[in-house]
Amino acid sequence: MNLHDKLGTDLAAINRVLRSVVETDSDLPRPSVVRDSVLKLIDAGGKRLRPLMVIVGSRYGKEMNDSLVLRTAVMLEYLHMASLVHDDIIDQSDMRRGEPTLHAATDIRTAVHVGNYMIARAMEWAAGKPEHTQPAEAPLPELREEDAYRLAELAAMVTELCMGEYDQLHNRFNYDMTLEQYLSKTRFKTALFMAHCLKAGADAAQADPDTAQLLFDFGESLGMAFQIQDDLLDFTHTRETIGKPAGADLRSGNVTLPVIFALEDPSLAPSIRQLDAHASSDVFGEVVSRIAGSPAIPKCRALARQYGEQACRIMDQLQGHPAQGDLRILAEYFLQ
Ligand code: FPP
Ligand code: MG
Repeated sequence: MNLHDKLGTDLAAINRVLRSVVETDSDLPRPSVVRDSVLKLIDAGGKRLRPLMVIVGSRYGKEMNDSLVLRTAVMLEYLHMASLVHDDIIDQSDMRRGEPTLHAATDIRTAVHVGNYMIARAMEWAAGKPEHTQPAEAPLPELREEDAYRLAELAAMVTELCMGEYDQLHNRFNYDMTLEQYLSKTRFKTALFMAHCLKAGADAAQADPDTAQLLFDFGESLGMAFQIQDDLLDFTHTRETIGKPAGADLRSGNVTLPVIFALEDPSLAPSIRQLDAHASSDVFGEVVSRIAGSPAIPKCRALARQYGEQACRIMDQLQGHPAQGDLRILAEYFLQ
């Protein structure tokens, strides 16, 4: 059974509303490369973890407002999809989930525009520009003052996301990056997004502030564990299993946790430090295999586990709530 089935979330409805955001945009000419690209990105699928987190968060609320929850969920998935379009350009990744990335299928300038459009349109749509047609499944809810404030909170989160990515870019091939710097950029680029998804769902359903804050903290810890596991995949999996070449992070200069831990090994550090944008693919391949077989890998797993345990301790503080089982399912999925 997949995660959406286990949690009883309507994946098809999420996908329908995702499509309708672009389909109902009367400002967009038809046919248009932007429209077709966005629809193609949506149809390429994805786990839709962020909308799912919004929905789970909303189950901790006192007053369910389905359309506001769905709007929030869809807006955040748009921001996530747009961030991946830009991320693939920055990381020079030509493949994602086994398919060519948008800039590889079109060109960099088109992909930048499509990503920009998605961010702007998602936020405009969530704020409910009145003259736009409203899809039946997510009609424009009446935006209260606090909802507008929360939209601003989410806009600030996008800034944090950009800062995390910029930090990463700024530290390309920086082998002196500290563990603290890595944890800080990981928090900005991944963990806070997941934290905000759970809290945004809780807020949309009028959860009490303490509950919303605990959900935020839980999402942050889970997000840290998630990104460390994602960074590990780059060393432990192949093109066939992750849909992009192994070692792609390191090749693009992204110094991730396995690299930071491997640099502590004096027999490995010199060969890592010689890697730069000009190193050959064979040299990268050799170093990636050595890191994959080193103690850096179990060390990363241990740190991911620690964040997982922290998430579980936070989850225990929400014990007794009817939605607790859903949070547990989410935690099990992330921490398996
Ligand atoms: C994937 O990381 C990327 C992110 C977690 C965030 C990307 C954010 C930006 C590019 C900032 C711009 C934001 C917006 C909303 C346009 P990864 O490269 O480690 O993972 P991957 O293996 O999935 O590529
Ligand atoms: Mg990337």
